[in-house]
Amino acid sequence: MHISFVGAGYVGLVSAVLFSHLGYKVISIDSDEKKITNLKNAIIPIYEPGLEKYLKTAIDENTIEFHNNHIKQNVDIVFIAVGTPSLDSGEADLSYVYNATLEAAMSCSKDTLIVIKSTVPPGSCNKLKAFLKSHGYENEVASNPEFLREGSAIEDFLNPDRIIIGTSSTKASDLLEEIYRPLTNNGIDLIKTDTNTAELIKYASNSFLATKIGFINEMANLCEVLDADIDLLSKGMGSDKRIGSDFLKAGPGFGGSCFPKDILALSYIASDKNQKCEILDAVISSNKNRKEYIVNRVINVLGSIEKKKIAILGITFKAFTDDVRHSPAVEIAKSLQDKGANIYIYDPEGMKNASNILEASFCSSPYHAAENASAILILTEWDEFKKMDYALLANILEEKIIFDFRNILDEKEVKKHGLRYYKIGQRSYF
Ligand code: UGA
Repeated sequence: MHISFVGAGYVGLVSAVLFSHLGYKVISIDSDEKKITNLKNAIIPIYEPGLEKYLKTAIDENTIEFHNNHIKQNVDIVFIAVGTPSLDSGEADLSYVYNATLEAAMSCSKDTLIVIKSTVPPGSCNKLKAFLKSHGYENEVASNPEFLREGSAIEDFLNPDRIIIGTSSTKASDLLEEIYRPLTNNGIDLIKTDTNTAELIKYASNSFLATKIGFINEMANLCEVLDADIDLLSKGMGSDKRIGSDFLKAGPGFGGSCFPKDILALSYIASDKNQKCEILDAVISSNKNRKEYIVNRVINVLGSIEKKKIAILGITFKAFTDDVRHSPAVEIAKSLQDKGANIYIYDPEGMKNASNILEASFCSSPYHAAENASAILILTEWDEFKKMDYALLANILEEKIIFDFRNILDEKEVKKHGLRYYKIGQRSYF
């Protein structure tokens, strides 16, 4: 089977490379010429552990081609995997999806199935099909949302919890079932549904996970005033199989290119249909306030931060990525700067991206950032930070304070070296 991907962003590139690994001939198309030239030379534009190895193999075995415009495509399926950024209203901007879908229909045959992988509001596949028809194209349009996480996308693609297919066409359903057979043969669940439900499953899943995080972050705030321990609370709750332990880790708030955008979009979708979704709105507001809550925690301990040097360790929205989009760490850094602090940042992968959106001092190591700083703030859960030399930090930090907003350090070990240690969801703030 021959397939193509329009959009070599995060989802499109990972999926294209891994479909070629599953044995298909894949074409990857993107309008960014530089990106395509780099990809032809196995240079990937994102940090994703393991992806480069799979890409090199696909190039060597000639199972993937990269193009920067719509070549005439003789393919069975075109996957649309372009961005759906937020408009000011929170609504998803579907202009890239519409353009890509029309161009795809123009460059392939009427029998080619067009599959929307981009996150789009319920009703979009049906509207896209009607839109194509109004331009004289009869292609079927199906939904197949993706659930890849940055940093573990390879494992998530090859071993997903489920595959969702949304279509009312038997032919489209059979084709999608066939393409996923290498995974379903290994026992992966494939759930078939209509397009609207498939589209909603994606938004509802991301919004539910964001809700879990919002909930546990508010429980962390409660732990702080009730003298309880958030990590043990998460463990105690998460051991109940009905609750589950995943996405119950308190932190500085959820970020990235998906959760903030998708929960806003779902809230917009609901209000557009005059439906109340009060939980979503509460989560959006709770996550927005979370960053200021963290900043206030720092000020409670340090007093005035005017002209104080503060070291931020971890600027990406989570570990194992170089992505800083909607990163809580970036927002916290900006807020501390607004209040007069001098910010010094170290991150193993995210500094290049962060330097495009943040004016701060970028440092070559945690120690470089911490030298003569009043405090260290850990904002991303990189493994490297778990193995720091605390004796050295105690020597070079001016006020010997570590705020661990990911609760990743060994408290006893840190305190042994005379450092003051503050973590999330514990009484010590008061
Ligand atoms: C998320 C979903 O997890 C994927 O299933 C989905 O495919 C993807 O969005 C998407 O829509 O494309 P991702 O944005 O890569 O994936 O990141 P997550 O691992 O979900 O983390 C999102 C945010 O939640 C991060 O800021 C992370 O630090 C935070 N988080 C996560 C917590 O604060 N606590 C947790 O327990 C888990």
